[in-house]
Amino acid sequence: MIHPVLLASAFFTIFWTPTIAFNFDSACGSIASQAASIENTTIFFADIVPAGTMLTFPDQDPSCGFPGSSQEVLVDMCRVALNVSTSDRSGITMEAWLPRNWTGRFLSTGNGGLDGCIQYVDLAYTTAQGFATVGANNGHNGTSGRLFFNNSDVLADFVYRSIHTNVVVGKEITRMFYGTPHKHSYYLGCSTGGRQGFKMVQDFPDDFDGVVAGSPAINWNNLMSWSARFHNILGNATSPTFVTSEEWLGLIHENILEQCDIIDGVADGIIEDPNLCDYKPEVLICGSSGNLSDCLTPTQAGSVRQVFSPMFDTHGRLMYPRQQPGSENAALVGLIYSPDVFPFSQDWFHFVVFDPSFDVETLDLSDYQIAEDLNPFNIATFNGNLSSFQSRGGKVITYHGQADELIAPTDTEFYYHHVARTMGLPPSEIDEFLRFFRISGMSHCETGPGAWEIGQTLSGASGNLTPETLDPERNVLTAVVRWVEEGIAPDTILGTKFVNDTTELGVAFSRRHCRYPFRNNFDGTGDSTLPDSWSCKLD
Ligand SMILES: *[C@@H]1O[C@H](CO)[C@@H](O)[C@H](O)[C@H]1NC(C)=O
Ligand SMILES: *[C@@H]1O[C@H](CO)[C@@H](O)[C@H](O)[C@H]1NC(C)=O
Ligand SMILES: *[C@@H]1O[C@H](CO)[C@@H](O)[C@H](O)[C@H]1NC(C)=O
Ligand SMILES: *[C@@H]1O[C@H](CO)[C@@H](O)[C@H](O)[C@H]1NC(C)=O
Ligand SMILES: *[C@@H]1O[C@H](CO)[C@@H](O)[C@H](O)[C@H]1NC(C)=O
Ligand SMILES: *[C@@H]1O[C@H](CO)[C@@H](O)[C@H](O)[C@H]1NC(C)=O
Ligand SMILES: *[C@@H]1O[C@H](CO)[C@@H](O)[C@H](O)[C@H]1NC(C)=O
Ligand SMILES: *[C@@H]1O[C@H](CO)[C@@H](O)[C@H](O)[C@H]1NC(C)=O
Ligand SMILES: *[C@@H]1O[C@H](CO)[C@@H](O)[C@H](O)[C@H]1NC(C)=O
Repeated sequence: MIHPVLLASAFFTIFWTPTIAFNFDSACGSIASQAASIENTTIFFADIVPAGTMLTFPDQDPSCGFPGSSQEVLVDMCRVALNVSTSDRSGITMEAWLPRNWTGRFLSTGNGGLDGCIQYVDLAYTTAQGFATVGANNGHNGTSGRLFFNNSDVLADFVYRSIHTNVVVGKEITRMFYGTPHKHSYYLGCSTGGRQGFKMVQDFPDDFDGVVAGSPAINWNNLMSWSARFHNILGNATSPTFVTSEEWLGLIHENILEQCDIIDGVADGIIEDPNLCDYKPEVLICGSSGNLSDCLTPTQAGSVRQVFSPMFDTHGRLMYPRQQPGSENAALVGLIYSPDVFPFSQDWFHFVVFDPSFDVETLDLSDYQIAEDLNPFNIATFNGNLSSFQSRGGKVITYHGQADELIAPTDTEFYYHHVARTMGLPPSEIDEFLRFFRISGMSHCETGPGAWEIGQTLSGASGNLTPETLDPERNVLTAVVRWVEEGIAPDTILGTKFVNDTTELGVAFSRRHCRYPFRNNFDGTGDSTLPDSWSCKLD
């Protein structure tokens, strides 16, 4: 057997060799005037940026986290910034990062939440791997949905047009810059970025050959309602139905682990398949002689049960599956189970479904039905017919943290089942173009108690590109590249957990995540921190 590290390094040093002499410096010097000829574009600048440069982003909307934040550029590249109009009242701002060492591959990054923010860290990550990379602002700046109001063109950019436009323009800039078209086209995104990836697979199947769509915000309309519904269930901080963050984390989470952690064979704080967890919050109801500081009232137990129950529409159809027990975590619990309506849902109902004067405290099931029926530009992104993408040889890797508290991982299963029924394919045949990896113990897109480093971002590659972190056995991006270019599909993705998420402290454990519908089970013998002690099984 060839050593996987050697295999990975062989794979990634095959850089494109130009047939005619390619002068990087002069290409960067002339790209601005060349690209100005692309319809509807205004080029802001094109600069050579040497490896090691710390870029800052003074023009970014402060809500994006800039300025104050910066991004180190990992390889020499030509940075091109431009805008593209998409209608007479909308447009995108985008960047193309063109590395000196080009692999012939093109890649688009995505966005998050309702933003509005170029994800510079993803541009740095993929440029460093030799992709000519683009990223856009999704048609508006900042994290608010305010600009969707009364401007369906800005909304159209958010739903699909920003990504598609930045791909069309980005491929053209790439061709102009290197003097030859790209050989393969890829996408990398998570959350809203995961939805954007699926939107292109569904509606623009020619845009990408390979897509990594993480924790996808698909079934979008109902996701906005589901996130708002937690406030319907929990009420405000003085409601008898309310459950505090301390109760979720210290009491309920611990009780969920007591009931469900051992199902996979190891009590390690990670529930491999939360579908098997039939959590019973009623065991926490305060007894007659109970200690009132470590138990729930019957009303609170009812809230917890509702949180972990699916959401049905006014016709009795499943709108959105249940929250998964075990997903409670300190970073997100106060946001999703807050005394206020979830912020993205507030913006969605204020600026898209209704208007800014609408009182989100009154949201109810009939409003959620209105939102589902409205479905602007089919933002639901739930089309189960992927045959156009499949028939041109496209490949999708989707992954979802099983402890994601913001977007239920069960929703990706819901979609997977929908694809299976729509296309009439069992999992063994879906495997030919779509593989879904359930990442146990991963929170929203990254972090969490599980082996969450799977190369999905720069931090998911330990912030460090090495033959090991780029090994397609453990990196979802290089895995999709290998699948597209060599026909080798990933059966599992090896995840790594570092001690305190600090690479220097060493590996705490690693685990091979199974593709759906397989689930991971401890073999019962051996060291549970080692991947070989676990097996992917169907039951
Ligand atoms: C370009 O890639 C080659 C092969 O990986 C490497 O040896 C070289 O250092 C790279 N050059 C730059 C400027 O990044
Ligand atoms: C977004 O910000 C960019 C600068 O990064 C600016 O050029 C552009 O005009 C802004 N777009 C909108 C819609 O405000
Ligand atoms: C692009 O930038 C130019 C120059 O700043 C500006 O005039 C134009 O309105 C911008 N277009 C869009 C769609 O933002
Ligand atoms: C340029 O923008 C106009 C609207 O402003 C649009 O109708 C047209 O399709 C755009 N052209 C391209 C190539 O996108
Ligand atoms: C919506 O936009 C139209 C023009 O496009 C304008 O006449 C109207 O006043 C706007 N409504 C609000 C509430 O801003
Ligand atoms: C909190 O909810 C209770 C009902 O559960 C209601 O009576 C009260 O007015 C609410 N308080 C606020 C500030 O919304
Ligand atoms: C009640 O539970 C809390 C938290 O577990 C503990 O600190 C406290 O000592 C308990 N009180 C009694 C009277 O048992
Ligand atoms: C799926 O889409 C393709 C291409 O648009 C179409 O030919 C086919 O009939 C569709 N299949 C189903 C089951 O709707
Ligand atoms: C890991 O983090 C915890 C909490 O921050 C700390 O108590 C512990 O000492 C850290 N462990 C190591 C090995 O640094």
